[in-house]
Amino acid sequence: MTTTTEHLATTHRTDLCGALRLSDVGRHVRLGGWVHRSRDLGGLAFVDLRDRAGIVQVSFDPKSCPPDVCAAAAAVGQETVVLIEGDVVARPEAMRNSELASGDVEVRATSFTVVGPATPPAIPVARSRTENLAAEELRLRHRFLDLRRPELQENIILRHRLMQVTRQFLSERGYFEIETPILTKPTPEGARDYLVPSRVHPGEFYALPQSPQLYKQLLMVSGFDRYFQIARCFRDEDLRQDRQPEFTQIDIEASFISAEDIMTMAEGLISALWREGGRDVPSTGFPRMTYAETMERYGSDRPDLRYELEIIDASSAFRGADFAITRSALEQGGRVRGIRIPGGAAALSRKHQDEIEADAKKAGAMGLLRLKYVNGALEGPIAKFLGEGAAAALGLQDGDLALFVAGPDRISSPALDRVRQDVARRMNLVSEAESRFLWVTDFPLFDKDPATGALAAVHHPFTAPMSEDTALLDSAPEQVRAQAYDLTFNGTELGGGSIRISNPVVQSRMFALLGIDDATAEARFGFLLEGLRAGAPPHGGIAFGFDRIAMKLSNAGSLRDVIAFPKTTAARALFEGAPAPVPAADLSDLHISINGDHGGSA
Ligand code: AMO
Repeated sequence: MTTTTEHLATTHRTDLCGALRLSDVGRHVRLGGWVHRSRDLGGLAFVDLRDRAGIVQVSFDPKSCPPDVCAAAAAVGQETVVLIEGDVVARPEAMRNSELASGDVEVRATSFTVVGPATPPAIPVARSRTENLAAEELRLRHRFLDLRRPELQENIILRHRLMQVTRQFLSERGYFEIETPILTKPTPEGARDYLVPSRVHPGEFYALPQSPQLYKQLLMVSGFDRYFQIARCFRDEDLRQDRQPEFTQIDIEASFISAEDIMTMAEGLISALWREGGRDVPSTGFPRMTYAETMERYGSDRPDLRYELEIIDASSAFRGADFAITRSALEQGGRVRGIRIPGGAAALSRKHQDEIEADAKKAGAMGLLRLKYVNGALEGPIAKFLGEGAAAALGLQDGDLALFVAGPDRISSPALDRVRQDVARRMNLVSEAESRFLWVTDFPLFDKDPATGALAAVHHPFTAPMSEDTALLDSAPEQVRAQAYDLTFNGTELGGGSIRISNPVVQSRMFALLGIDDATAEARFGFLLEGLRAGAPPHGGIAFGFDRIAMKLSNAGSLRDVIAFPKTTAARALFEGAPAPVPAADLSDLHISINGDHGGSA
């Protein structure tokens, strides 16, 4: 056994395992790491020792190392943490391993100490990118083991680098990093709040912030001019691959600026991050498109521009057709819109088309109308309703398939967006290497519920209307455009922001339009209104989804692969077991009782 002092002296390492190279040959090194595997070749033992820099082979030769140490090394279990000392030697040419960065050398051990015994790992550990992984649920259950995988380590370290680039970029431009509270006032902003009960104020709750939106606006009121924060946000919403209940934003706000200034600064930040991720960025600024145009051409406000498949308006070709579905859609003021798929007639089988139709139905369409143009003739159930010149009018080329949705744009846009993405995936039209950024601008300020006529804010209730549209606020609010902008990348929304309402009278009017009466507005947002009444500069900002950026730059398939300790799509943390019931006494301290069968347990 080593004494405590000896132990402390030896816990220091001279080198990282995976960093040793031919230039280190001749050095005596001390390494610490995890046993990736060990093998015994009849007296000569080998241990592949791993740390975050990679793996190095360590040999135990009875000529240079006591035999009992060699035997212990040969028998050491996987994932045991050991310290070894030894000499770096060049491997003979024929024994070099080109798959390891350290594969030209090995360490000939002179000593070996187990410092962290390990139970046999529950999942295979530290597999390479090409090896099959255990099921994700199992990996999340044993997250600390899965985090030993080089791919996840690279992602988490890239994330660190992206944070440093963000801090440096914004600090250099005069932005102050300011923290805002995590225990905040419940102020519904879109998604549901995570609530935290107050012990000292019975029946009252804090909310975890969905974003620091109101605080950053108040910092502008206080005169800080330029703010940023790498901010943790919490939203109790239905989860998908690109959503986590707890996520991180790069949150930015500035005063006395225009939307143009924010977008230019944001392009600089995103370009710096993309360069850190080793990616090309456009040298001439990111393209822009209005919301109206993206919806018309792609049916989505975050179109993937890596492929064409633009939506066409086929209404005039169908206008005279004696076909009930299209006729009634057109009579009711709707349109017939569709997508022309070059080569689709042969590339997409009937089964594929049925699957695409099923997806379009999930997105709200009643069905898809299919038309093929093959050998100069239209084919398909609707061909007979169309006139002579229809193929030319629709721009069809030989071999094309066209898929149409009849109805209001509210239905056809999301359905055709889905069709576009489906077709691109099935026909391999998506180039993973390509980077297509797009600013989407001129969003509508409100979303109008077609059934009730109620207005909801498209971004949030603090977004300013375009000044030229303010006259429409009362007469035609759905036509008012917002001073808002989103940045999309390859079909994903990376971030969004706006110029804010800085006039308290306009802000109150906005609340009224959203159906929030004065008393409710004061109760929920009184602190913001008070702030705006205290002298507010014109201001605006943006927030980027930091996890999404890290996901794109590490080519990860899910946000979970770029977050050290993520939640599942059911919002559970599997390895520590959150959420969890709490003892009844703790609930009682919080003045909470649980309804029905969901009682807490001790
Ligand atoms: P918004 O709600 O659009 O704007 O959020 C900004 C960006 O945050 C990311 N994001 C998410 N990432 C992971 N999981 C989630 N559940 C999640 N929700 C959002 C997205 C999104 O573009 N306060 C405003 C910003 C502003 O106006 O300045 C806001 O929060 O990438």
